[in-house]
Order: sequence, then structure tokens, then C-alpha cells
Amino acid sequence: MKRRTFILQAGAAFAGATFASVAPEWAVTEADVKLEIAPLNLEIAPGKVVHTVAYNGQVPGPLIRWPEGKPIAIDVFNRTAIPEIVHWHGLWIPSAMDGSAEEGGTMISPNAQFRYLFTPQPAGFRWYHTHAFAGHDLKRSTYTGQFGCFYIEPKGDAGTYDQEIFLTLHDWNAYMAGSGDSSMEAAYEYGTIDGRMLGFGDPLRVREGQRVLLHILNASASLVHWLGLAGHEMTVVAMDGNAVPTAKRVHAIRLGPAERIDAVVTMDQPGVWILGETRDQLRKAGMGIVVEYANQQGKPKWIEPPETAWDYRPFAGAPTATREPDEIIPLRFESKFHGQGAFDSWTINGKSYPHTDTIMLRQGQRYRLQLINHSTDDHPLHLHRHSFEVTMLDGTPVSGLSKDVLVVPANTTSEVDFTANNPGATLFHCHNQTHMDFGFMVLFRYAGFGRLRQIFNTQCGIKQNSEVRSQGVARLC
Ligand code: C2O
Ligand code: CU
Repeated sequence: MKRRTFILQAGAAFAGATFASVAPEWAVTEADVKLEIAPLNLEIAPGKVVHTVAYNGQVPGPLIRWPEGKPIAIDVFNRTAIPEIVHWHGLWIPSAMDGSAEEGGTMISPNAQFRYLFTPQPAGFRWYHTHAFAGHDLKRSTYTGQFGCFYIEPKGDAGTYDQEIFLTLHDWNAYMAGSGDSSMEAAYEYGTIDGRMLGFGDPLRVREGQRVLLHILNASASLVHWLGLAGHEMTVVAMDGNAVPTAKRVHAIRLGPAERIDAVVTMDQPGVWILGETRDQLRKAGMGIVVEYANQQGKPKWIEPPETAWDYRPFAGAPTATREPDEIIPLRFESKFHGQGAFDSWTINGKSYPHTDTIMLRQGQRYRLQLINHSTDDHPLHLHRHSFEVTMLDGTPVSGLSKDVLVVPANTTSEVDFTANNPGATLFHCHNQTHMDFGFMVLFRYAGFGRLRQIFNTQCGIKQNSEVRSQGVARLC
């Protein structure tokens, strides 16, 4: 039953009663999507239970599939004991709705509810996840099961595939472990694809001759993952939800935390195979899923893929298309060692968040971020509310790769360009939860948009964009 029909019928049923005059429609509007954040005991394999927090009692959270340009209302209920917030990763939406406290987003108190209202764009594979602080508590924020896929359907979908499958990678039961240089990084007990360890979930069922489109998300709080499908190659068609200039066949893909890859696989090797982490240790810790052809049975087979290097460059376009930026913003990343057994803290241009210098943008200008990694770690760097174009990878000029996360390897520099086209506070950070919690964040603001005005502006933007209105928004504008 459609909502409008329901209201009409309810009105008819109550006609003549004293409460026939109901509240205006916006006050009783049902949300399009409801997310309930609550503790969950997730059985990742028989007898193996992780105690976590999830959306709607499932991992991953519900897939949100939504047409591009159509307003959406998402109600989030927090049934946990700590304040929460949901970030819509890769979407071009107002700061107040983006789900980041640093940008002025609302923390949802325990047992409270918040309605997110925005118009999803751009089309493609996006996702959502908690944006809370974890710090030393490796049972919080992105260490939990609070993540899900958000697919914004393009207006004209070409759809040259027979089956579409969403897959999410996650690591569980984090603990602090020493890394090479005696600083601490999170390590994990288990890994899963779609919340199940290899061999314990339903297999992916395919038929010979099918073209299968895989939408793969790395929802790990801190680990980069490699993935291969034994016996098959994958054609990477999109990164972070955006078509790549050069689709390319590879034996294995690499995904930094928060990165997504869309890959097409032609199912032409009947059998039972493993799609899994290419590193034995991580695959054995559970990160894999069985791919089963119709009418095939037997023990799932693993074959080590030959490739060991990952390079964004072959997927990019020629450098000529790149427009020169109006301004270059150098961002230099370094760690501060805090002694044996402690997490490092991280600096951007010598300062740790919240002391990093806010960077002012002017609307309409094109900026180049110089991502100077002066550290011995690789970092998955993420810009909120905008997409960027990768223009230089460790000395090689490139073009056409539109992304929202870029892994910049240790001791290298990459460059990305973006147009300041979405006024409002905008966060930039490393997507490694530990790194961001220990200083690896900086805020961008738009000049001429004071803090209040930014909030006002974004709220009015919501009003204009939206059929549905929530508490207070209408009054503000
Ligand atoms: Cu996917 Cu600020 O995060
Ligand atoms: Cu980092």
C-alpha cells in the first residue's frame, strides 16, 4: 500500500471523529529507510560469535538502493549506550546531513532518533558507516558491524551483466599489535565477507556463461585487502563507484579501507571456487566466500593469483585532459612516535586534529591537494562531500580517475584535484580508524559561509531538495 493511499483510507475511517483533523502530512511521514543501531552477537561461523554493534541486526546493514536525484528520508534510532552518527560516504550532500560531528553533524544520543534528509548523488556505489570516535576502544566505531552498501542508481543504467552481487569485507576482534617500527597498529582475529567466514555462509551461486557484476567494499577499520577469484580474472569497471577511463582485466584487486571496486567476471570455468584474500593468513582467518557454479560440487578450490603489485595507473586516462588548478594545497603527513606500546599520533602540516589549520576554499575554484606521505605507512585518504580526480601518482601524471579515497603509499606523494562545488564544512582524513582518531584529520571550510550561515544554507538546501521536512528545518528557512 502506498503511503498516500494509507492516509486517505485512515482519514475515511476516522471521518466524523473528533481527531479527524490530523497533523500535516510531513509530521507523520514514514521514513524511506529505518536503521536501528543495536548490539548484536554475530555468528560468523558455527560457534564463533563476535559481540558487536550493527544496523537492523544484520551485517552488513541493509542495502540501500535508491534512484539518483530522488530525496530520501532515513530515520536512525540509537539503541546503544554511546552517542552515534551515520556517515554517507561518497555522497555530495549538505554538511549537516553528512554524518560527521566535525562538520557540524548531530550526534544521536542513546535511545534518541535522528532523521537524515538528503538527495542522493552522484550515481554509483557508495556506502554508509558509523563516524564515531573509537580511540583506544577497539570495540567501537568502524571496528563494529556498522556499515552497509548504498547504491545510487544511475538514470540510464546500461546493465550489461546477468547478475549483480554486493560483497563487504570486514575484520573482527581488533587488538593492538606491534608493527615493524615498534609503533602500534590494530590487528584482527577474524575476517569475513558479508559477515561470514569462508565456508560458513551461503555460496555465491552462478551459472556458466553469466557475466556477474561484483560491487566490492572494504569496510575494514584499518586493513588493506587483496582479493582474487580462483580460476578467473576480473575486469575492473569502476572505482569508488565511478567508471574508470580504462577498464582492465586483473588477477587480483586491492582495496584500501573504504575503497570500492566494481568488477565484471565472466563465469567460464565451471567448478567450485574460492573468492578470497590472496594472503593465506587472512584467508584462513575467514576472509573469503565460495563461488559455486550450478550443478557443480566438491571442495572449493583456491589458486594463488600470479599478481602481487597494485597500480592505479593502468585504469587511468592520459594526463592531457587534466585542467590546471586555481590553487595548490600541500598536505604533509607525519607520525609522532609516543613510545613503545602506544598508538602513534598523526600530523597534517605539523599539527594534529583538532589543532590542524582549517583550510579555506572559495566556491567554484579548482584545488589540487598534494598528498605528501612522509611516513612508513600507506594511508587511505578520504575527502568528504566531494569527488576528486587523481592527477598524479608518485610522479606519474594521470587523469580521469574519479574517487573519494586514495591509498598513498609510504614515502610517496600523489595529487588529486577537486572543484569546490558543495559549500559547507568538509572533512578530510585518513580512513584508518586509529590514524583518524589520533589526529589525522583536517577541516575545509568555504569562504563567505560563516558557521551559522553554512548550517542555515545546508538546512535550506535540504528544504528545497526535499518533499519531506523534519523538525525545525522548515522554521529555519
Ligand atoms: Cu568513510 Cu569520514 O568517512
Ligand atoms: Cu593513515
